[in-house]
This record gives sequence, structure tokens and C-alpha cells, in this order.
Amino acid sequence: MHRFYLIGLIIAATAGLSLAVADNGFSEYVDEQGNINLPEDFRSSMVHLGSWYVPEGGASGFHDVYTEQATVEAFRETGKFPDGATLVKELRSSHAGNYTTGSGVSYATADIKQWFVMIKDTQGRFTDNPLWGDGWGWALYQPGDRTRNVAASYKTDCLGCHVPAKANDWVYIEAYPTLTE
Ligand code: HEC
Repeated sequence: MHRFYLIGLIIAATAGLSLAVADNGFSEYVDEQGNINLPEDFRSSMVHLGSWYVPEGGASGFHDVYTEQATVEAFRETGKFPDGATLVKELRSSHAGNYTTGSGVSYATADIKQWFVMIKDTQGRFTDNPLWGDGWGWALYQPGDRTRNVAASYKTDCLGCHVPAKANDWVYIEAYPTLTE
């Protein structure tokens, strides 16, 4: 009896601190080949780090960014994203209307455009996989099929646009004060 109780306590204590570590000791969102899955229900299980508002173009609307609570805690301590950290960015259409706070007030609608995912890899895993490199695994999903990563190569599909954020491990952290508060 006592032993089971103790094991339960250890599991509970470890779970509170760890990231979504899976059997592979890395990330529950990544399989042995380095295929990345879009986390389920991240809006309720993760921390909302911040949002961007893009006024026009194909990516217009709100970009809401999420990560694990454990990643927030680790970043506040070390100033770095820990191994296995997950970043999810959800693109949603916006609608503007007049409210008691003012006119032309914008909000994110339920219409989702796409999801971007980055998984921190401090070990340089999956060197043969074109969706891994520069310290991250990179993925893109469209609402039609949440299971299919439509990015082919992070170098051509992602990296160029993240160069301005290179000094911050390719992440636009200025919009995520939760990481440093
Ligand atoms: C057209 C340029 C562009 C491309 C292409 C692009 N990104 Fe980004 N990404 C950005 C910018 C700029 C931000 C922050 C501002 C925003 O969302 O408008 C961002 C933010 C993110 C975020 C939120 C964390 C952060 O860095 O701030 C993730 C996750 C992300 N991108 C993943 C990806 C992945 C994965 C790919 C490739 C499949 C990709 N991006 C391709 C420009 C781009």
C-alpha cells in the first residue's frame, strides 16, 4: 500500500514539472521518425503566450501563440526554451464591430486559417529529416486535415521569415511578456 502511494506521489510531482515527455523521453507530439503532431486541445491545456494582429493579406487576423506551463517556468529561470518545448501558433480570422468599448473593435472568430508548430530540440535529433534543424522541429497544419504536416522543408518554408528573430532562438519573443515576467 505504502509503496503504491509513494510511487503515485513521485509521478504526480514529476508530472507537475515536466514537459509533455513521452516514451521517447522527448515529446509526446513527436514520433521516432520525427513526425510532429498538432497538440489536441492546446487552448485549454497550454498557456496563451500572446497574440499578433495582422491587418491584411493571406495571414490577416489574429495569431494566438501557446506553450506549456513548464516551458514558461523553465524560460523564466534560464532565459531559454527547454528541450521538448512546444510552441503552437493558431491563425484565426478577425471581425470588427462597434462595442461599448469603442468602434472598430476586432476579435478573433471561430474560423481557423492554419496552425504552426515548433518543437525545441537541443540534441540535434532527426538530422536526415528536412523539417528539423537550427534547434527546432517545424510543422504546419491546415484545418482540412489536422493530421498532415504540409510543410516540406523548414529551410524553404519557415526559416527565411524567422531570420529577424534569430538572436532569440528564431522566436519573436517580444510579443510574449509572459515568458519574462
Ligand atoms: C511569411 C513569413 C513567415 C513564414 C513563411 C513562417 N513564419 Fe512563423 N512567424 C512569422 C512571424 C513574423 C511571426 C510572429 C508575428 C506574426 O505571427 O505575425 C511568426 C511566428 C511563429 C510562431 C510563434 C512563435 C514565434 O516565433 O514568435 C511559430 C510557432 C511559427 N511562426 C512557426 C513557423 C513555422 C513552423 C513555419 C514554417 C512551416 C513558419 N513559422 C513560417 C513569420 C513567418
